[in-house]
Amino acid sequence: MKALDRKFCVAPMMQYTDMHDRFLLRLISKKVFLYTEMIATGSLIYGKCFDQLEFNKEEHPVGIQLGGSNVSDLIECSKKCEQFGYDEINLNVGCPSDRVQKGKFGACLMLEPNLVAECLSNMQNSVSIPVSVKCRLGIDDNEDYEFLYNFVSIVKESGIKVFIIHARNGILKGLSPRQNRNIPPLKYDYVYRLKKDFPDLEIIINGGIKNLDDSSNHLNKVDGVMIGRAAYDNPFMLKDIEPRFYKLDSSINSKKEVLNLYLEYVERQIQNGHNLSRMMKHLFGLSRGDKYAKSFRIKILEVIRDNSLKNHKNELEDLLVY
Ligand SMILES: Cc1cc2nc3c(=O)[nH]c(=O)nc-3n(C[C@H](O)[C@H](O)[C@H](O)COP(=O)(O)O)c2cc1C
Repeated sequence: MKALDRKFCVAPMMQYTDMHDRFLLRLISKKVFLYTEMIATGSLIYGKCFDQLEFNKEEHPVGIQLGGSNVSDLIECSKKCEQFGYDEINLNVGCPSDRVQKGKFGACLMLEPNLVAECLSNMQNSVSIPVSVKCRLGIDDNEDYEFLYNFVSIVKESGIKVFIIHARNGILKGLSPRQNRNIPPLKYDYVYRLKKDFPDLEIIINGGIKNLDDSSNHLNKVDGVMIGRAAYDNPFMLKDIEPRFYKLDSSINSKKEVLNLYLEYVERQIQNGHNLSRMMKHLFGLSRGDKYAKSFRIKILEVIRDNSLKNHKNELEDLLVY
């Protein structure tokens, strides 16, 4: 099986890490490992929404995240994802939303490690690309390290090697998905301990990682970091991954260069019928920290309002400081 480098990953985020955002992120770092938003097996199989699988060839390496717990559906979708050319398939065992709970997938599956193992081993046996899991530390009041240890001990029997751990509990009743990303406390030490207890597993830590300094500290203790909101809000920070961690030149020199390449992409994708506003919103974070950040964002809103890039391209470029 092809070895993949997951030292730096961008987290799957619904409505955010779509194919356009991933194209943008790939312009900024060649090394970062990308994930799609979660795609429910039901919407692929019964909704026949296979267009959700579309991605740009430039995105590699890119993993797709599936949500589901029906073994035969997961097998069918895994095969389809491999055919589409994804580099990895990840199973979501971390989403706490009501809708997902009703469908019996996401975080509630942490209470069913045997079922998770069965799903993962069947998925892995049906494809030749790696299968991974993304989970929480625990669910509701299962707060002890032993809960996580037991979950991983059982799930690893599926043969999968890659565990992405969002380092906080999921609370199934009483907290919204958004609150579930902020309120339960982060317990990084549980994830570090997991790596010590299971040195053969590839452990990726996720949750609250703000920048590459944070990442560097985590990388002393685990195999990889996964950054979600911070990478979306400030995508240009990924530019320093190559020089700082790989002794390579950055993939790109300036924000203006990113902007121009991305706008060329947007123009191409408009011809293919993609929605301008969905593509433009990913640029909001590019001006993060700049003198004219607010004006840049307002200009993007104008482009969205006019539903046209015409006349705005140079103005956008001028609003970036470098
Ligand atoms: C808007 C949004 C959508 C998300 N959608 C998903 C998803 O589809 N699948 C998933 O596993 N996690 C999802 N997450 C959780 C992130 O992957 C990540 O675990 C979480 O945001 C913590 O990482 P961070 O603090 O670096 O953002 C989402 C998070 C956000 C903010």
